[in-house]
Amino acid sequence: MRLLVTGAHGLLGRALLQAAPTEGMEYAGCGRQGGIVGQVPCHAIDLTDKDAVMALWRRLRPDRVIHTAAVTNVDQCETEPELARRVNLEAVENVVAACVEIGAGMAQLSTDYVFDGQAGPYSEQDAPQPLSVYGRMKLASEAIVLGAGVDGLVVRTLWLYGHLRCVRPNLVTWPLAALARGEDMRIVSDQWGNPTYVHDLARALVQLSRQGVGGLFHMGGATFLTRDELVRQVAAHFHLDASAVATMTTASAGQAAPRPLRSGLRTDNIEAQLGWAPASLQEGLERMAAEPDFREDFSGLPDINV
Ligand SMILES: NC(=O)c1ccc[n+]([C@@H]2O[C@H](COP(=O)([O-])OP(=O)(O)OC[C@H]3O[C@@H](n4cnc5c(N)ncnc54)[C@H](OP(=O)(O)O)[C@@H]3O)[C@@H](O)[C@H]2O)c1
Repeated sequence: MRLLVTGAHGLLGRALLQAAPTEGMEYAGCGRQGGIVGQVPCHAIDLTDKDAVMALWRRLRPDRVIHTAAVTNVDQCETEPELARRVNLEAVENVVAACVEIGAGMAQLSTDYVFDGQAGPYSEQDAPQPLSVYGRMKLASEAIVLGAGVDGLVVRTLWLYGHLRCVRPNLVTWPLAALARGEDMRIVSDQWGNPTYVHDLARALVQLSRQGVGGLFHMGGATFLTRDELVRQVAAHFHLDASAVATMTTASAGQAAPRPLRSGLRTDNIEAQLGWAPASLQEGLERMAAEPDFREDFSGLPDINV
């Protein structure tokens, strides 16, 4: 099976490509820059360019595409809605059209931000009610992937974490680095979710792609908690002092985009399909801490002895 991963230089894209090679799978990647990710060649492309997408898809002829590329800065989407529309909606239309033309299946990544955060954790049957531009664009993209005659899969996920080199800090690596430097932090205490170990999500996406599974699934980790509790658990796991962690409400954080507060995604359906359960936060942190790159890059942490 030939698998093409978009957003090759992002957190999830890199996690997918670094798992390659996998038996029976031939990987390619694409992103705004070219180069190599892991051992996989990546093609430079702007996915908002419809002709370029069609030309690359015709050349590579993937059997399935995992579309991870997006503008993921939620506040930027709110202040630059045209950019959000171009990348998070129109580029999805371009990818769908190219997949339809060559007969490829497609997996689209979506988000818990399609919900309003009044009554999480949410199942696939719960009614979406996005609060933000990012959430509205992602919800609209789901309809395109599930309704356009393409063999489509949509996986909603949330709170991705893991250590991969050359990607932005995430909700675990950022506080970890800040706590290790002894910096003060202010974390919101009223947002709930279930953090997702990025390698679990990558594994699930490859498995579902191999199985040719379509439809809508939720994927998140096994631990439900608030953002400030997450930081405290990260600190405790790595024996760091969290006494300088202060809390604040989302309302006082002054962010451009509204956030769903009581969020989270139920994973019963995807667990039944996969035959395995996503990691708890403790399991995810243990697996992350065992990775050689992590041990090298965070060698100053108290319990890391390289
Ligand atoms: N991270 C989370 O917690 C989270 C939660 C829910 C859902 N998701 C969804 O999961 C997916 C993966 O998230 P992630 O955290 O891995 O994202 P990420 O690290 O921000 O990576 C996104 C990638 O998309 C690329 N991209 C943006 N605009 C593009 C364009 N016009 N053409 C080609 N590539 C473009 C970016 O390229 P550059 O490297 O050049 O900027 C970047 O590498 C996204 O669809 C996101 O919405 C993520």
